[in-house]
Amino acid sequence: MDKMIINGGIPLKGEVNIVGAKNSALGVLPATILCEEKCIIENVPDIQDIRNYISILSKIGAEVNREGHTLYIDTSNINQGKISTIEEETTKMRASYYMIGALLTKFKDVCLALPGGCNIGDRPIDLHNKGFEALGAKVEIKNGFIHVHAKELTGAHIYLDVVSVGATINIMLASVMAKGVTTIENAAKEPHVVDIANFLNMMGAKIKGAGTDVIRITGVDKLHGAEYSVVPDQITAGTYMIAAAATCGDVLVKNIIPRHMEPIVAKLAEAGCIINTYDDSIRVVGKKPLKAITIKTMPYPGFPTDLQQPMGVIMCIANGVSTIIENVFENRFKYIYELKKMGADIMLNGNVAVFNGVEKLQNAKIQATDLRAGAAMIIAGLVAEGRTEITQLKHIDRGYEKIVENLRQLGADIVRVDE
Ligand code: EPZ
Repeated sequence: MDKMIINGGIPLKGEVNIVGAKNSALGVLPATILCEEKCIIENVPDIQDIRNYISILSKIGAEVNREGHTLYIDTSNINQGKISTIEEETTKMRASYYMIGALLTKFKDVCLALPGGCNIGDRPIDLHNKGFEALGAKVEIKNGFIHVHAKELTGAHIYLDVVSVGATINIMLASVMAKGVTTIENAAKEPHVVDIANFLNMMGAKIKGAGTDVIRITGVDKLHGAEYSVVPDQITAGTYMIAAAATCGDVLVKNIIPRHMEPIVAKLAEAGCIINTYDDSIRVVGKKPLKAITIKTMPYPGFPTDLQQPMGVIMCIANGVSTIIENVFENRFKYIYELKKMGADIMLNGNVAVFNGVEKLQNAKIQATDLRAGAAMIIAGLVAEGRTEITQLKHIDRGYEKIVENLRQLGADIVRVDE
C-alpha cells in the first residue's frame, strides 16, 4: 500500500498550473454517448475517476484515445443501455450515475449497478429518479442495480426539492432529446453544471439558463460531435490556494477562472491572506497568524462543500475560534479525527465543527478518509513540522493529478513510497 511522507513546516512558493475540472469532465464524457460522431475533449485531468470512466465507455463499445489532456472519443459502437456487467467500475464512483441519463436518452432502456463515491453521507439519487419519472420513465431499484426504461421521453417541469448538482446534470442528459420542453427549477449553478450544458449546446442541444436557478431544455431530434475544452477545476485550484495560505507561502495559481474562485478568495482574505487576482490566475500570500473565520457550506456561488475539509486545516492553526457549518452533506467531518491525532482542538456537534486554534500541528501517521479529506491531510502534513505519513492514497488519486509533483515544485518536502 502506498503512503505519502511529508516533512512539513516549509512555506510553499512558486507557480502551479490547474487542469480541467474532474466534476465537469465526469459529465462531459457520458454526454458524448448522445451523438454518433467523434468528439474531442481537451483539458481532461489524468485522474483515477476519469480513467475509470474511460474504462466504462470502452467496455461498452466506445473508442477512447488519450493524448496528454485531450481525449478522442467515438461512442458510435455503443449498442445498448444494459451495462450491469461492468458493476466493478460503476460502483467505484458517484458520477457513474450520469450513464443513466445518457443511456436513457440513447436507448430508452438502462440497467447498471448503483453508483459509489466518497463516504460523506447517504448520497441518495431520489431526485435523479424523480426527474426520469417526470420525463415518462419507469425506475426500478433491485439487488443494488437500477433499471430505467421509457417508451418515449417527454419534456416536463421538474422542481428539485434540494439543490443537486448530479440531479441537475442527469436531468439535462435525459431531456436534451425528449419531446418538448423541460424546465428544471431550483437547479444547481456550479461551474461544471454550466460547462456540461455548454458542451451539450456545442453538440446541438437547446439548453438555456444554465448557471441560474431555472434551466430550460428544448428537446432536439439529433446531436452531433463537438470539440470542447473543460473548465479549470475550481476545487483543485482552491486546494492549492488553501495550501499556500496554511503554509504561509506565496503561490501563483494559474490557468483558472477567477470568478469561480470568489467564495474561496473571500474567506482567505478574511483569514488575513494577501490575494492578487489577475485575468487567469490568482496569487495567494499567507500571513501569520491566520485569523479565525466561519464557513457555511452552500451550493454555488456559496462556499463549496468540497473545500471545507482543506479549510479546516487553516482553522486548526488560526488565531482564535473558527467554525464550519456543513449544510450540504451529513457526514463530511471524518477528517477531524485525523486532525486531532496532530493536536488539533476541535469540537464536533452534528453539522457544526468548532476549531480552537493551536500554536502548531504535530506530525503524525494519518489517513485519507475520502477525496477532499485526503487533500486536507496533505495540507496538514505540509503545515506540521517533522515527518507526517498519509495512507489510503486511493482516495486522493481519484481527483488530484500529479499532486506530489506539483507540491514538490512549490518547495514541499513530499514523497510517495510503496509501503
Ligand atoms: C457532486 O456530488 C460532486 N460530485 C461532489 O463532489 C460535490 O461535493 C457535490 O456535487 C456538491 O457540490 C460529482 O460531481 C461527481 P449533490 P452529488 O447531488 O451530485 C442531496 C468531490 O469531492 N441529494 O449536489 O452527489 C445530497 O444527499 C465530490 O469532487 C438528494 O437528497 O451532490 C446532498 O445532501 C464529493 N437526492 C445534496 O443533495 C438526490 O437525488 C447535494 O448533493 C441527490 C442529492
